[in-house]
Amino acid sequence: MRLEYHFEEISSTQEYAKELVSQGKDNFVVFSDIQTNGRGRFGRIWNAPHGGLWFSFDKKYSGNVLFTLAVGVAIKEVLEEEYNTKLLLKWPNDLILDEKKVGGIICEKVDDAVIIGIGINTNNKVELDTAINFFEKTQKSKDNYLIMNKIINKIENTVNLDNRKIIETFRKNMAYKGKECFVSVLNQKAKILDIADNGNLIVEVNDEIEEVFSGEINICT
Ligand code: BTN
Repeated sequence: MRLEYHFEEISSTQEYAKELVSQGKDNFVVFSDIQTNGRGRFGRIWNAPHGGLWFSFDKKYSGNVLFTLAVGVAIKEVLEEEYNTKLLLKWPNDLILDEKKVGGIICEKVDDAVIIGIGINTNNKVELDTAINFFEKTQKSKDNYLIMNKIINKIENTVNLDNRKIIETFRKNMAYKGKECFVSVLNQKAKILDIADNGNLIVEVNDEIEEVFSGEINICT
């Protein structure tokens, strides 16, 4: 049984989870109604007001290089079923609804654990033009706690799946395939082609094919 730490307000569930691991704790989930200092990837601020789903939990690191992709695939499947709507995955693991970001994932390794932090715009207001929430799209207001537990269970199963299955699902549901995007590690635009069997992003840049293994992509408008 996972130990649950629930807060009405916290600085960041991710930071709290990391502290728990450093105290030797495992098998827990930290969730909060509001985060006052939510963190995204690359040290960015993650806006986390009331109504959204914000949580972090630990998982023993399996050594699987496709771990973060598998987490994205699992979340996508739960949310599509809950909201009966189609989502896409933006490499490596953003959740896209109607070309806007509806959820983000951060996976951070601490000792032999990975802290998986998940933020989903369910019933909260969003500020950025590039973001959307599920309520706006579906008019459905779901119970965040139930969704959280479904996601955790799905992730437990998905990370043990055959990698070929994970790649196959990701490929079929990949956002911006064939589109020009800004690729952060290349610091330039490239055409998004595919993902490789090892999870790397395959792009075409200056008439050459390249593989990218970290960073992020953003659609060029
Ligand atoms: C990203 O897309 O940059 C990842 C966003 C991750 C946000 C979640 S919300 C719960 C957890 N606590 C944090 O401070 N961040 C993650």
